[in-house]
Amino acid sequence: MTIAVMSPDDMAALQARAYQHMPPWSALALAEMIASAHALCVTDPQGFALGRVVLDEAELLALAVNPDHQRHGIARTLMNRFETTARTRGAVTCFLEVAETNAPARAFYAALGYKGIGKRGGYYRQADGPAIDALVMSKALTLD
Ligand SMILES: CC(C)(COP(=O)(O)OP(=O)(O)OC[C@H]1O[C@@H](n2cnc3c(N)ncnc32)[C@H](O)[C@@H]1OP(=O)(O)O)[C@@H](O)C(=O)NCCC(=O)NCCS
Repeated sequence: MTIAVMSPDDMAALQARAYQHMPPWSALALAEMIASAHALCVTDPQGFALGRVVLDEAELLALAVNPDHQRHGIARTLMNRFETTARTRGAVTCFLEVAETNAPARAFYAALGYKGIGKRGGYYRQADGPAIDALVMSKALTLD
């Protein structure tokens, strides 16, 4: 299921502005992910969260908020909607990967209760410069 009010083109443009620690997705890659069977996409006029729910696991694949509108609770609201919808679809745990160097996102996920559970070495390839490790984080999804 997808709850989207933003087109893949709009999402790609927003993500290209927001992503500084990893390459943004193309509009085509976003459209294909949104159209896939297990996709879960929630959007706000200034941001989006995209992932999938398979059986009892949710995975967040992309999250971005317009840099001009950050620190106003938009991502927190997006993630609340993402997690609640994932929970209603049967997920009991949500997983994500974040670049080890992405301090703002790591602080954000920690504020939401995500904990580091592992590391993927060299996960984020860069055109120039060394590949960056990804921190794997997870959170139990509970019914409030
Ligand atoms: C990470 C991101 C999605 C957060 O979006 P946001 O809408 O600004 O986040 P919120 O306003 O909902 O923040 C909620 C809480 O998270 C924490 N937080 C968010 N951004 C933070 C930052 N830059 N530094 C430290 N803590 C931060 C704070 O605890 C914040 O609460 P507060 O503002 O009351 O202190 C946004 O910075 C972004 O788009 N970054 C670029 C893309 C990216 O890195 N995505 C993640 C890919 S894994």
